[in-house]
Amino acid sequence: MTDRRIDAKWWKSATIYQIYPSSFMDSNGDGIGDLPGILSKLGYVKSIGVDAVWISPFYKSPNKDQGYDISDYQMPDPSYGNMEDIEAIIKGCHDKGMKIIFDLVINHTSDQHRWFQESRKSKDNPYRKYYIWRPARYIDGERRPPTNWQATFGGSAWEWDEITQEYYLHAFVVEQPDLNWEDAEVRQAIYKEAILFWLEKGIDGFRVDVSSFYSKHEFVDAPIVKPEQYIQPAHYNYIDGPRLTEFLEEMQRETFSKYDSVTLAEMPGTRTLENKLEFVGESSKRFSMAISFDLATVDHNGHQNYYLWWKPYDLKEVKKITEAEQLLSGPNTDGWALTYLENHDQARSISRFMNDSPEYRVISGKTLAMYLLTLSGTPILYQGQEIGIINMPKEWPEEEYIDPMSWMFMQDVRDDIKKGVKGITEKEAFHSIQMIGRDHARVPMQWSNEKSAGFSTNEKTWMRVNTSYKEGINVAEEEKDENSVLNFYRRMLAFRKKHSDSIIFGEYRGVDPENEKIMQFYKTSFDGETLFVALNFSGSMQTISKPEGKAELLLSSSVDSGDQDTLQPYEGRIYRV
Ligand code: NOJ
Repeated sequence: MTDRRIDAKWWKSATIYQIYPSSFMDSNGDGIGDLPGILSKLGYVKSIGVDAVWISPFYKSPNKDQGYDISDYQMPDPSYGNMEDIEAIIKGCHDKGMKIIFDLVINHTSDQHRWFQESRKSKDNPYRKYYIWRPARYIDGERRPPTNWQATFGGSAWEWDEITQEYYLHAFVVEQPDLNWEDAEVRQAIYKEAILFWLEKGIDGFRVDVSSFYSKHEFVDAPIVKPEQYIQPAHYNYIDGPRLTEFLEEMQRETFSKYDSVTLAEMPGTRTLENKLEFVGESSKRFSMAISFDLATVDHNGHQNYYLWWKPYDLKEVKKITEAEQLLSGPNTDGWALTYLENHDQARSISRFMNDSPEYRVISGKTLAMYLLTLSGTPILYQGQEIGIINMPKEWPEEEYIDPMSWMFMQDVRDDIKKGVKGITEKEAFHSIQMIGRDHARVPMQWSNEKSAGFSTNEKTWMRVNTSYKEGINVAEEEKDENSVLNFYRRMLAFRKKHSDSIIFGEYRGVDPENEKIMQFYKTSFDGETLFVALNFSGSMQTISKPEGKAELLLSSSVDSGDQDTLQPYEGRIYRV
């Protein structure tokens, strides 16, 4: 058994806080969050007890996919600020003793990026090879895309370009053409332009967007599962291609390793433990940690990619996933887990996993904090999670869902219904986006109970403010309440540091895997302490399995935790045994 504390890198005992620039803090009253807004709130971020900040893309972008379509890697979008503003954030984080991580989106660019603008001009343009172009295919004399692949959010993954009479590939929206990683010169240009430039400016690492997408499989048709149409689901045709390992190792060698920077690799599709270890084991030399999708899609009705079909989750599944993830940080591997409940692509965890009614939302938020922050690995908190923000109100109409993934999903379902494809109804589809749409994460941060939740002086904000800010879910009111979700997060983060030997570096052992209402596990340190964690995911009282030996209650998420063996609805507890 290896003592995982030995030679542990800084990021193994860190907690990361994710900021979504357009929705964090608006400093100039235009209704959109910005970089000076972020700078003004770094003191607050530090006060939660986190160690690093990850900022989602702030780069120049036409915002067809909210900043994940970048038109200039080296320039903040003017709506967010300028180079001085971002440099001030790097310095501000470092001055406060926090690390700073940027988002790295290099599977694709925006179609407005100068590389693509050149690439589409002519077949012999030097930038032609930067993207993936293919001629049309003709079926019964009719022009069709080169393969039947569907893009991740729906529609064809190929777009016809009139100028040169060819199609280009885009795994995401039409305005996000995929870069051609097959070409060595293109890879070098990406490293120089998007990675080394920022590492030189002193950032501490990157969150790496869809890093399993760089190498594509052969351009052959995906299996036909919807005979009514040409376009077919093709997720597995454009992830984990044959040259992925080679590309990732080269990128690590030529960029990250030179600066000893941390990498959080988003890896949709890497399912098994072995598969994950191949990417995040220290010996594999690819990434520090992987953002996997197992928990994030546990209520997606079996869809492992970005499809928004909601189905209630099963706690037994959550336990299995947790256990597998925890093995990554266990004593027998050289990997490290990365854990999260929310990010800008996920709905709010209280609404998904617990109960967001006024009666139970506070205890639900605290118990989820206890779940996340007693696990080994490096946790990520998403802005607003620490104050227990819940999903957008159910009364809001479909027009409030402006994310392309939401409206393309609704469009896809409606198209299927028209064609007579058996599947989800329109009502179920809308309920699905109410439960798991990405929009819930993207509404403005709730700073106070004043106009626009204190996010902006403007009443018109780029996304409508979630009215729950008027119901006590906001920073200002929670600061004053010692029993708030916010203050519980602070307590939990301090507790996590104090008990780091068992919580961060200890071994996980689950109990009672078949129980559908409560989750219980032990965390044991290498040389002594054992904690027992019991979490009630149900609305009824539950009896815990008595911990082995004498148990001392250290912390509960309930203000009036009752009997030793009975958990209140949605209560969580930590014992020392
Ligand atoms: C993953 C990002 O998290 C998501 O927001 C984005 O839509 C896709 N990658 C495409 O960049």
